[in-house]
Amino acid sequence: MIDGHTRTCGLIGNPVEHTMSPLIHNTLAGLLSHNLVYVPFHVEEGKVQQAVEGAYALNVLGVNVTVPYKSQVMESLVEMDELAQKIGAVNTLVRCNGGFKGYNTDMPGLYRALVSEGIELEDQEVILLGAGGAARAVAFLCAVHQVKKVYMLNRSADKAKLVAEEVNSKSGRECIYPMALEDYQALPDQKFLAIQATSVGLYPNIEDVIIQDRSFYEKIHTGYDLIYKPRDTSFMKLVRQSGGKAYHGLKMLLYQGIIAYELWNEVSVPEKMAMQVYERLEREIYNEK
Ligand code: ATR
Repeated sequence: MIDGHTRTCGLIGNPVEHTMSPLIHNTLAGLLSHNLVYVPFHVEEGKVQQAVEGAYALNVLGVNVTVPYKSQVMESLVEMDELAQKIGAVNTLVRCNGGFKGYNTDMPGLYRALVSEGIELEDQEVILLGAGGAARAVAFLCAVHQVKKVYMLNRSADKAKLVAEEVNSKSGRECIYPMALEDYQALPDQKFLAIQATSVGLYPNIEDVIIQDRSFYEKIHTGYDLIYKPRDTSFMKLVRQSGGKAYHGLKMLLYQGIIAYELWNEVSVPEKMAMQVYERLEREIYNEK
């Protein structure tokens, strides 16, 4: 029940209307018997600073940040977590003295998702599809977790080159190799973990796929698609048809939320509880009612 002691958390972005975050956080608050409510805040362009200052003035406990403000919000923070600083994107604000401290839980969220699926990064050779904001964070994750090599394939090869240079230099490891998407046949003849970090195949364009050629999928032992809707993307289907294992990105969404909740409330969410939230997410997103 909302009363005089209820703490507020929320999401700022534009749009925020399709977010699953209220379901994650309000479910966690219920399971943990926390007096906390999580709400969406639609913030117009140019109002991010005011939104952050307003949230602080209103004693808001924690804030998530989504598109298109993940970089822009950094100007309005009093402190930055080191990892978020490197990635250059913030999705979680934690209340601190005089304002908010910025974190990125997308990347550790993906790591926890991979671990929970039994996928290791250490010493792997990885194909990373894309060079946008999401792919950039994945490239950092790979560099930090001692991946041997990452072949970053992107439609715009120039962008892959820029992102690879930046991640190599900031991580101090020369492990990201940029390539043009169309040159995929030049990949070494071996099996890879492939992470699909483009927006191709996202609902409602579910028939689209980043690479059609079936011979490409023979190089993949495990495919991880950051997209979670549809449940089985065309990329995942092609990986499976070639004998590989394939996963969608819903656990990444789950764990980025759980890590934010843990930061705000200084708790550790048990795995069993995480799975209860996951089941609710599945029911909501895939209409399993
Ligand atoms: P996000 O923050 O989700 O990563 P983004 O920064 O807009 O979004 O990046 C989108 C990614 O999907 C990019 O790698 C983009 O390739 P380009 O850099 O060449 O634009 C990729 N992408 C989107 N539509 C694509 C398409 N039809 N074919 C190939 N790649 C596509």
